[in-house]
Amino acid sequence: MNRSLSRSSLLLITLVISISSCKPDRTPDPIQPAVRTLVLPETPYNYAEITLPASWDNDALDLFENIPSFNETTDEGATLGRVLFHDINLSSDQTISCESCHHQSSGFSDNHQFSEGINGAMTARNSMTLTNLSYTRRFFWDRRVNGLENQVLIPIEHPEEMGLFLEEMTTRLSALDYYPALFTAAFGDPEVTSNRVGLALSQYLRSIYSYRSKFDEGEATDFANFTDQELLGKEVYFNGETKCNQCHMTNIFYTPGSMNNGLDLVYSDGGVQNQSGNASDEGRFKVATLRNLSYTAPYMHDGRFNTLEEVIEHYNSGIQAHPNLNDQLTVDSSIGGEPVQMNLTDEEKAALIAFLRTLDDHILMNDIRFSDPFVIE
Ligand code: HEC
Ligand code: HEC
Repeated sequence: MNRSLSRSSLLLITLVISISSCKPDRTPDPIQPAVRTLVLPETPYNYAEITLPASWDNDALDLFENIPSFNETTDEGATLGRVLFHDINLSSDQTISCESCHHQSSGFSDNHQFSEGINGAMTARNSMTLTNLSYTRRFFWDRRVNGLENQVLIPIEHPEEMGLFLEEMTTRLSALDYYPALFTAAFGDPEVTSNRVGLALSQYLRSIYSYRSKFDEGEATDFANFTDQELLGKEVYFNGETKCNQCHMTNIFYTPGSMNNGLDLVYSDGGVQNQSGNASDEGRFKVATLRNLSYTAPYMHDGRFNTLEEVIEHYNSGIQAHPNLNDQLTVDSSIGGEPVQMNLTDEEKAALIAFLRTLDDHILMNDIRFSDPFVIE
């Protein structure tokens, strides 16, 4: 990471994680760094004033937008969120941060099929990318949680992720020397509460807009920047036959709601059904955004596909005749009908992938505002 700011202009706070503060019955992880230094800019980075491209100004996105009035993003609030997101003190044994499973360089997701939490426990699903969450209301692959402020505290207490009770978290964070100033800047006084932790993490996550892709540039220039292959792929994507854009829609290639895209005849993970108990919800999952796919492999809720070639072949010839299969993917446009066979040529498949890669936001992957502020000494 290229840090353009000189060290002298940075506020340096040294955090010494003392081994003796660990629970006596736990052996400290030998690779755990002894000293992590928090490095923040003197003036907070800009998170609150983002100018989105003109093409983002449309009714569909306005409809999706969900920024609660009680938690509008400030630069100070998002800065606190950035520190919390990268802080291993949010896990019981001080080994795991949110970033452990949501790496910036992996599109804020994880390149492993399942992610490792505390004590080597593995998650049951593939980690999710965290971009453009300002436009999402319900969270997780089965959309079981309403509101980001509620969602962000769940991984902290989750026994297989960070395993830290919120009460213990507030006590622990209050004792760290760098939080009083950060909480004061964000909320007016140094009090650490789990509510404030949720507000700050949400402000930070909502500021991760992905809007600087080749596709976004193309929208402003009538796609003069696209190669012939990318133009063909765009045509395949939007031609009304593949129906990709009927589920992955708008500038963020997402739609609210849960869908069955025919991965299995019988699902080992029922998705929305796990919550509702209804057979009509089996295999319904949140529609994943298609931005930054070059960074976020593997794909689907269980990370079953390692490559985009496999994903495209699924839609081209592998859709399963599940009774809940969404109507966009059936021959007669009825739910649970016979699955479509897209019969794409090799040229069209390659073009579709080339088009999907135009949705990569390379700038975001290196944006210093979302980098780890803790430097290992
Ligand atoms: C051990 C790995 C792990 C850790 C640590 C972790 N996450 Fe996640 N995260 C996941 C997985 C896996 C999912 C999908 C889980 C599911 O659908 O049941 C997920 C889903 C999410 C989502 C939902 C995104 C969406 O579009 O619906 C958000 C937001 C999120 N995590 C934020 C966080 C934050 C904030 C933290 C730290 C407080 C964190 N995560 C820590 C693995 C992790
Ligand atoms: C009926 C709605 C629907 C249609 C049509 C559809 N998808 Fe999907 N797509 C989904 C859902 C739902 C998921 C997540 C499914 C899961 O993980 O179980 C998904 C997941 C994906 C993923 C994986 C993303 C990730 O981060 O894991 C890719 C890539 C993808 N779709 C591309 C496409 C392409 C290309 C097309 C057109 C050929 C298409 N989709 C058509 C609903 C749809």
